[in-house]
Amino acid sequence: MELIHRPRRLRRTSLIRKLVSETKVAVERLIQPYFVTDGEGVHEEINGMPGIYRESVDSLVASISDDMKLGLNKVMLFGVTERKDPMATSAVDDHNPAILAVKALKDKFSDELFVSADVCLCAYTDSGHCGVTVDGEVDNDRSLTVLSQMALALAQAGCDCVAPSDMMDGRVGAIRETLEAHDLVDTIILAYTAKYASSYYGPFREAANSAPGEGDRKGYQMDFRNRSEALRELMLDEEEGADIVMVKPALAYLDVISDFHRNTELPVAAYNVSGEYAAVKLLVQAGQADEQSLVFENLTAITRAGASIILTYHLRDILKNGWRQP
Ligand code: PBG
Ligand code: ZN
Repeated sequence: MELIHRPRRLRRTSLIRKLVSETKVAVERLIQPYFVTDGEGVHEEINGMPGIYRESVDSLVASISDDMKLGLNKVMLFGVTERKDPMATSAVDDHNPAILAVKALKDKFSDELFVSADVCLCAYTDSGHCGVTVDGEVDNDRSLTVLSQMALALAQAGCDCVAPSDMMDGRVGAIRETLEAHDLVDTIILAYTAKYASSYYGPFREAANSAPGEGDRKGYQMDFRNRSEALRELMLDEEEGADIVMVKPALAYLDVISDFHRNTELPVAAYNVSGEYAAVKLLVQAGQADEQSLVFENLTAITRAGASIILTYHLRDILKNGWRQP
């Protein structure tokens, strides 16, 4: 055979494959999510998410302190509380566990730890919706006021980065304006720009005790049939002052991540969500996949599509086990 092109030449040895590899997952650009709740001494594993816990502030600070010894230094916090009402009062009062956690962590670790926090009302409303409900409907503009107050409280507590995940129209602009009005000029806004209504959030909703009591989130989260619409959300979040734009979930939305990569100068993040994590754990438990290989296949795909920052529940396992991209 006289073949001119033999692509297999570049696949022959491990060293050659490494030499011609196009994508590298950057562990220093991964962020670990944590769930923080009321009380003291609380440390309970989340159903369906082995290795991920719901913890009170004292326990969270100890856990993060341990994780920092592994080299982990970027976190995303989600508040979880039983105190729920129509106006999401507990999101903005002095007892919000997420706000207390930000204070405790920044007091202890200062700039050795990058602390970001979710901004959304679903863990704090009795309806379980991401905005406040007026006459049975999620009221966009009234929600903006509460979301801005929540972002402000987090920023005042010392949060490096606030991450609105509610998908109300205009929330990035409203939060930016509020932060500027209080001279909080350094608080980063990581916007959940293209957040799709997804079945991959199942384990998270149990973790955050935030499933909507009635209805679904399709009136504000994006429809997974739509791709161009994500670019419209991107344009709006850029105009409204987002510093980082995110696509969520990640693995079923690689086309959207790629579109973002080509259409913005801002850093692009992707959220490797709870259902994606749980699916990996199930395959591994069933003995049908090697965890390190599967985790890096997923993270490489997300990176290859164009995300530079990835929020992933796998980070602690990667550091603990010293996993590397093969
Ligand atoms: C809250 C929020 C959700 C997630 C992040 N922020 C759940 C939802 O919108 O229902 C999902 C994260 C995950 O599944 O890991 N708005
Ligand atoms: Zn929400």
